[in-house]
Amino acid sequence: MSGRLTGRTAIVTGAGRGVGRACATAFAAQGADLVLVDIAADLPHVPYPAATPSQLDHTARLCREQGAAVLTARADVRDAAACERVVADAVDRFGSLDVLVNNAGIAGPSGRIVHEVTEDEWAVMIDVNLNGAWRMLKAAGASMVAARSGSIVNIASTAGLVGYRNFAGYVASKHGLVGLTKAAALDYAPYRVRVNAVCPGSVRDGEAWEGRMLVEIGRSIGIEPADHEAEFITQMPMNTLVEADDVAGAALWLASEESRHSTGGVITVDAGYSAR
Ligand SMILES: NC(=O)c1ccc[n+]([C@@H]2O[C@H](COP(=O)([O-])OP(=O)(O)OC[C@H]3O[C@@H](n4cnc5c(N)ncnc54)[C@H](O)[C@@H]3O)[C@@H](O)[C@H]2O)c1
Repeated sequence: MSGRLTGRTAIVTGAGRGVGRACATAFAAQGADLVLVDIAADLPHVPYPAATPSQLDHTARLCREQGAAVLTARADVRDAAACERVVADAVDRFGSLDVLVNNAGIAGPSGRIVHEVTEDEWAVMIDVNLNGAWRMLKAAGASMVAARSGSIVNIASTAGLVGYRNFAGYVASKHGLVGLTKAAALDYAPYRVRVNAVCPGSVRDGEAWEGRMLVEIGRSIGIEPADHEAEFITQMPMNTLVEADDVAGAALWLASEESRHSTGGVITVDAGYSAR
């Protein structure tokens, strides 16, 4: 059966759990072969654990069950050489690279007024969420420009569109990612390499996806884990949280040829949050 990504190779960063896992399995169901990237080790200054190696393996298993060929890479998007290796390995194994989903991200250290954020805390946030996406884009872009084809999907956030109190580093990193999306879209447009961003609102962590971000955002501003979903729902005009599947659906459309004339776009999947 032919799928929307049949014959395509996609790299998904932060694929160990959460939105990355949802994107990977959605792409696998539509025929893509996959390179699944995750640090799968904890980061300094980040007050909650990253995905584990077995979570990354679990994502790979789910994708293989859909018929995808899968390569996994334990790589840190803070490491330029590792990013280049991931892209080289993808091209080596699958012959081309068609899609990059820059999804790896951290939500903390956060939860403090801006002048209380330390130099190290600020640096790790920008290094993962903005510089990490730039490093992967830089590595993949060279290969895509040479092929005159490709789609890069940056998973930003409503924090890339509006401010949030006590989240200055996260907000700055995601605004930067939206800016990078637009600038890279213009650079790559002549080469038919497209760059778009998805801005999710509060995403339910979800049992199947094992996401960790929403509960940790809540914790950093003093919301008990048991209450965090109910608390975040009150802020959503549609009175619902976003599901990781919803974000994956938008990423899938941007990855596929259905969006062939869309570049530099910023798509919200936020149940109306940023429309206010
Ligand atoms: N969950 C939300 O409410 C929400 C809302 C808006 C945007 N987002 C964005 O969606 C993306 C995914 O979030 P999630 O909710 O799945 O979070 P998550 O914490 O569950 O998953 C993030 C993944 O990224 C990996 N990762 C972290 N640092 C990395 C690094 N340096 N190198 C490689 N991998 C790394 C983690 O190990 C983890 O598997 C993030 O970019 C996040 O900012 C999430």
